[in-house]
Amino acid sequence: MAKEHAMRKRLVSHTYTKTFIQSSPTVARQARAILLDRLLPIITASTTACQEPRGVEVAALFMATSMDFITAHIYGLSGGTDFLRETAYREHWIEMFITRFQPSFYLQELPRITWFLATCGIRLQPHISILAKAELEDWNQAMFDKTASRLAGHPSHQDTGLLAELQVSDSSVAANETFKWGKAEDEPTVMQSLLSSLEREQTAHKTDQALHSKIYGRLALTAKSELYDHIIAGQETTALALTYLTWKLSVHQDVQDLMRAELLSLRASELDTSAPFFPDAKTLDSLPILHAVIMETLRRYPPFEGPLPRQTPESGCRIGPYELPGGVRIAGMAHTLHRDTTVFPDPETWDYKRWTGTDEETRKAQNRQFWAFGSGSRMCIGSHFAMHEMKATTAMIYSRFKSLIVDDSMMEPEDEE
Ligand code: HEM
Repeated sequence: MAKEHAMRKRLVSHTYTKTFIQSSPTVARQARAILLDRLLPIITASTTACQEPRGVEVAALFMATSMDFITAHIYGLSGGTDFLRETAYREHWIEMFITRFQPSFYLQELPRITWFLATCGIRLQPHISILAKAELEDWNQAMFDKTASRLAGHPSHQDTGLLAELQVSDSSVAANETFKWGKAEDEPTVMQSLLSSLEREQTAHKTDQALHSKIYGRLALTAKSELYDHIIAGQETTALALTYLTWKLSVHQDVQDLMRAELLSLRASELDTSAPFFPDAKTLDSLPILHAVIMETLRRYPPFEGPLPRQTPESGCRIGPYELPGGVRIAGMAHTLHRDTTVFPDPETWDYKRWTGTDEETRKAQNRQFWAFGSGSRMCIGSHFAMHEMKATTAMIYSRFKSLIVDDSMMEPEDEE
């Protein structure tokens, strides 16, 4: 299981490294197109004095932004979504997403029994959730097929039989006719890399029966499910973090002013003032206040703060003062770790200064305790992509606009005041 998991992760992990994200012209051009051509015009329109209702609902806007980001990275800009502009389909998609998620208990905790009962006609999930799940899978399949047919039509594509094995449907092949290669933003980075890694590894592990039956014997399923996982894992999480960040910056106007000053001084140093302000990912990553407000938002409002399960090794282990037997399921929670007062004093307070100007030892302890992306072999594969997306989105908005609260009555998590 661990071997299979490590193998799956290795197939695409290099397209999510910090170095790759910060140096890829494709990633940069996709961010530029999504933020300058799609997001900023919507925000600009929301600032007109006569607009009713006032303001803009940022949660939906960030859901759309992060969906456009992650699907562009996987399937290319024109092969991914345009949720920022296609609002009707976006709303339908969010409804599907919520509907399929409701009965996650049986699927997550008892997957084999759920599957077995389903084969006997006994369904532990409401029919509507099954339909929603199937529709979302079909939606991903359509993007996958369209991109596979584009890849097959790529001038440098050498027919090794892999794309044929993926059984691209006839209707999606038609999409090939309208597609032109040559634009960096249209490169389907993750999918392209996944397919070539699969091909390489398939040859290298020809004799490994276990891997063959789980991965190489079902190539199409492996590839589609892997990419679908990235979309589901990468969309809502990043959008939630951006929503909480915008809220906190709107509440704490003094912090917003400081962060804007950092961005505006960068903008003032640009030589070509006629081009739209769009600093590269590396430059954005070097801004201390921008970094601190994002880290503090992820600490105080981790998008995934529930239990992250792990199993103890067969020989048992010791965690802190506790001696644990082998094969036991335990869990860590960002919520708890981020409220350890020995590392984060006054933990309920959102205070970006925790992440600026602290001494080396404190900084190390904070980073060790920071668990918004988990850690170890199961750690989030998209953490650098998410940081890049959050920094670019925040910088593009706040270098041009100020934000204020119109209505934040739903913002405090339900178990809090
Ligand atoms: C602020 C944004 C994000 C947060 C807070 C977040 C958080 C997490 C957490 C807590 C985990 C579980 C880690 C563990 O069990 O130790 C995880 C796993 C994962 N995340 Fe993210 N994530 C974010 C964005 C993304 C993005 C943009 C992607 C896009 C690829 C992504 C893809 C994944 C995948 C594929 C896994 C499973 C990794 C594995 O099985 O080893 N995440 N994420």
